Amino acid sequence: MRNALFATLLLGVAGLSSQVQAGDIEAGRALSVPCAACHGENGISSSPVIPNLAGQKSAYLVAQLQAFRGGARENDLMNAIAAQLSDPQIESLAAFWSSLSGASTHATSTIPANMERTRLKFPENFQREFIRYDTISFPDRGQVRKYYANKPAFEAARMGQPMPQGSYFLVEVFGAKMGTDDQPLFGEDGQLVEDKLLFYTAMETQPGWGDDFPELLRNADWNYAVFLTDKTARTGVNQAECLACHKPLTQDSYLFTIKALTAAAKAAR
Ligand code: HEC
Ligand code: HEC
Repeated sequence: MRNALFATLLLGVAGLSSQVQAGDIEAGRALSVPCAACHGENGISSSPVIPNLAGQKSAYLVAQLQAFRGGARENDLMNAIAAQLSDPQIESLAAFWSSLSGASTHATSTIPANMERTRLKFPENFQREFIRYDTISFPDRGQVRKYYANKPAFEAARMGQPMPQGSYFLVEVFGAKMGTDDQPLFGEDGQLVEDKLLFYTAMETQPGWGDDFPELLRNADWNYAVFLTDKTARTGVNQAECLACHKPLTQDSYLFTIKALTAAAKAAR
């Protein structure tokens, strides 16, 4: 009984001292640039599915960042970001964001210019020179996607080397044909039957392109884009999301489909 009380007292004191040594707001401000890409410079987010941070309680922010870092709270973007933060950085970030005044209802912010501007152009030589190395069906989304690499990327994969500058990946995203029961139809190859082309996703690396982004998000020199069927870049795409999700794949040149690429490249003669 006495021990339990003593423990409670100790915990209370520990809790108090962590409040006293709360994170450093100025240090948090300096670390906050990459967060602003999604949560907004003023902590008011740029998207309906990204929460505001401004005015949120500091202890809550710390708890969430720790949960993302440990994986207890799952979100591909925040898991990748929090994995890169130390305890003092988390404390400081929480102190900074909670120090900003909260949003009035329905307030939003815009995507930062460096995140919205992509360097990619739709590749002129796509039809002639790109090599298809994979197809993946997504029954839940009613989509089938075809994955293409340009020659320098394909050649590097064949040699088992990291992707060189000039590598370009393009994905065709098709809607799947629906059957009479409103379920997507599978073809004889085991993949969904493609219907209309919906859009393309793309990534390319060129020297210096990574300088556009803060270190916490940067994928070496890769830039990302979404192209519409008329081959113009879709506006309003936040590259921070692409960068955050692909970020953990440092060892694989930031590619999710590296295994399929390597297998296809080694099989090609
Ligand atoms: C690529 C976009 C992106 C970036 C960059 C980003 N976040 Fe997030 N953040 C999200 C999304 C999306 C969620 C919602 C996750 C979910 O649904 O669980 C989120 C949730 C959070 C939450 C939980 C908020 C709540 O109300 O529960 C905290 C805290 C947070 N982010 C802090 C940060 C900090 C600090 C940084 C910078 C170090 C950062 N985020 C950078 C996208 C981002
Ligand atoms: C939530 C995580 C996530 C986000 C956000 C994300 N990707 Fe990906 N990306 C994946 C996964 C997983 C794959 C592998 C297959 C698939 O799902 O299509 C992939 C594959 C790709 C590929 C094929 C090359 C490779 O890495 O295998 C390209 C190109 C690509 N993504 C572009 C983008 C672009 C452009 C954006 C931003 C508009 C983006 N991605 C955002 C998870 C993500």
